[in-house]
Amino acid sequence: MKVTPVSKIVGAEVTGVNLSDPITEDTKRGLRQALLDHQVLVIRDQTLTPPQQVTFSAIWGDLETPSNIDYTTEETPKVMILSNEIRPDGTAVGVVDGGDFWHSDSSHIEVPSAITILQAVKNPERGGDTEFCNMYAIYEALPHDLKQKIDGLYGIHHVSKVKNRRVTISPDRPGAKDFYESSAKAKPEVIQPLVLTHPETGRKSLYCSPRFTIGIQGMSEEEANPILDVLFSHVTDRKRPYHYRHKYQDDDLVMWDNRCLCHRAVGGYGLPDIRRMHRTVIGGDQPYAEQQAT
Ligand code: SIN
Repeated sequence: MKVTPVSKIVGAEVTGVNLSDPITEDTKRGLRQALLDHQVLVIRDQTLTPPQQVTFSAIWGDLETPSNIDYTTEETPKVMILSNEIRPDGTAVGVVDGGDFWHSDSSHIEVPSAITILQAVKNPERGGDTEFCNMYAIYEALPHDLKQKIDGLYGIHHVSKVKNRRVTISPDRPGAKDFYESSAKAKPEVIQPLVLTHPETGRKSLYCSPRFTIGIQGMSEEEANPILDVLFSHVTDRKRPYHYRHKYQDDDLVMWDNRCLCHRAVGGYGLPDIRRMHRTVIGGDQPYAEQQAT
């Protein structure tokens, strides 16, 4: 197995492994270390079927079950389809607008996702990249007084786009407006430490995102928003100093660590050009709010 960094700040390409074979302890150890060192792994030349993707994903921990069964594969409900493809009857094959704003997966639930895995099944001719942002690097580069100010604070996270002035609802996803309106009432707000200590590396990273973080516990909107604006400005910085933009090749399998990264789906493609990704997610093992308190 060969691991080659794809940028100075985040991401590495992995070649010389076949993930459809049984994974040896050596390969698992090598991949884990590479993930902890580089946060995003681009594993080339993989064509995992949905059941094979589940088998590979399950070596990292318990898989999350996608919330919407309508957009999972026929072979297994553990694999979610991200796609812009439309069936002849007009129904969508997958989630069209998944991940369109900077976020860390499922930070809006008490125990957020640890690792996400995408198998590229069909890449569009143009567009369809995923961008990643190294949240360790952002935290480390913050001025000392800002670090002191946010250390020990908790961000308020929520899934509903209706509650978040920084995002918009894509017109392309059927039923999205209704979903976000009902989830604004039905889903609870969740708190997460603004500075997260990674459970495996022990390194501190900024843990908040324009997509899911809507406030800071114990602060008014007037107090919290200027702080969040400064923090998010590093994530969205046009110069992309802490970032890696992945342009998919055929048969890429990409896995990333949500505990120290934000990411977003860049878009930029449209029918008849099709993008199809198969997504599995490994859940975390304890609430970060509790972990930070102990
Ligand atoms: C995601 O946010 O999990 C998906 C990203 C992508 O489709 O590029």
